[in-house]
Amino acid sequence: MAFVRSNRVLVTGGAGYLGSHLVLKLAEMGLEATVVDNCERGHVAAIESIRVAVASSVIHFVHASLHETERLATIMKEQRIDAVFHMAALAYVAESVERPLEYWATNVDGTTSLLRAMEAAKVGRLIFSSSCATYGSPSPTDIPIRESCEQVPISPYGKSKAAAELAIRNHHIAATEGGVDFSYTIMRCFNVIGNDPHARIGEDHRPESHLVPSCLLSILGRRGPVTILGDDYPTPDGTCIRDYLDVNDLCDAHIAALDALTPRAALCFNVGRGHGHSILEVVRACERVCGHGVATLRGPRRIGDPPLLIADSTEIKRVLHWSPKVQSLEESISHTWKWLSTHPHGYDAVRMEH
Ligand SMILES: NC(=O)c1ccc[n+]([C@@H]2O[C@H](COP(=O)([O-])OP(=O)(O)OC[C@H]3O[C@@H](n4cnc5c(N)ncnc54)[C@H](O)[C@@H]3O)[C@@H](O)[C@H]2O)c1
Repeated sequence: MAFVRSNRVLVTGGAGYLGSHLVLKLAEMGLEATVVDNCERGHVAAIESIRVAVASSVIHFVHASLHETERLATIMKEQRIDAVFHMAALAYVAESVERPLEYWATNVDGTTSLLRAMEAAKVGRLIFSSSCATYGSPSPTDIPIRESCEQVPISPYGKSKAAAELAIRNHHIAATEGGVDFSYTIMRCFNVIGNDPHARIGEDHRPESHLVPSCLLSILGRRGPVTILGDDYPTPDGTCIRDYLDVNDLCDAHIAALDALTPRAALCFNVGRGHGHSILEVVRACERVCGHGVATLRGPRRIGDPPLLIADSTEIKRVLHWSPKVQSLEESISHTWKWLSTHPHGYDAVRMEH
């Protein structure tokens, strides 16, 4: 990982779930990182926790929005940034249906603002965390999903991430034709689960809608039963099947992507394990890890939820020589359980302790 070690990186959304896990890894690698986050969904306490966990870490935290183009450019120049991990986004499918304009503003306008700032500051390396939601509902013959699968997003969230990808691709074409060195890798992430194994940081979404923390919070009595949204899908147990990747493996993939980025490159990878688990299988795995039943309710299908989303991870494995280290759902779930059971108030308590 020579490239990353010798460079200064900026992480947008670095106070969020994925972003904070990436910043922790960068800190453990001895790399200086600048975090830009408006904390709409993230936690400054996550950054404070990383500083405590890795005493030698150098993390600059900037409370700023993606929309502050000039300020972002100034930060990049001052910090001599030469690569950006772009993780900041609004990322809830259901919420995006209710608030499409906000999703467009953050995920599309926010990305173009970031690109303009990078251009002004002459920062030419971008790793963008996109989503499998850009594929929409692929036909069963397209499962597992390859990068070449047609993108027909259904939700405003998926559409906004696809539009952000397009903005990046167009910017790359113009930059390359204009003789400017700009390279990028789009990381189409599938479902991410798990936590720092040592529970130094954790997943703290409010409200929490992700399946694993929802099950565990229900077991802990901190929320009610978990609603299974649709049990009549054409899958073996009737519930949706998703590709669950551990957050630590996902961060390793992002770092490997930056390491592999050569001048003017334009790459795109599906980031998943390459096999799926049904919602019910995940619920049962949570029960096994915690030794406790999960109370569930059956609800109607959610609009825009395809029955099957599984990544074909051949390409990322081949090009980046990356493969997931975490071997089971149970291993990832046990890490989330460790965080949730020791942090009953999430980052609120962390803020008080520190
Ligand atoms: N979590 C998943 O399972 C998953 C799956 C696929 C793709 N992704 C993508 O990964 C990225 C991170 O997801 P996450 O689960 O960590 O989300 P998150 O909500 O935990 O983190 C996103 C961060 O972005 C910040 N942010 C939002 N709007 C901002 C703005 N205008 N300016 C600055 N910061 C802003 C939030 O405060 C938050 O800290 C997103 O781009 C998402 O689309 C996540």
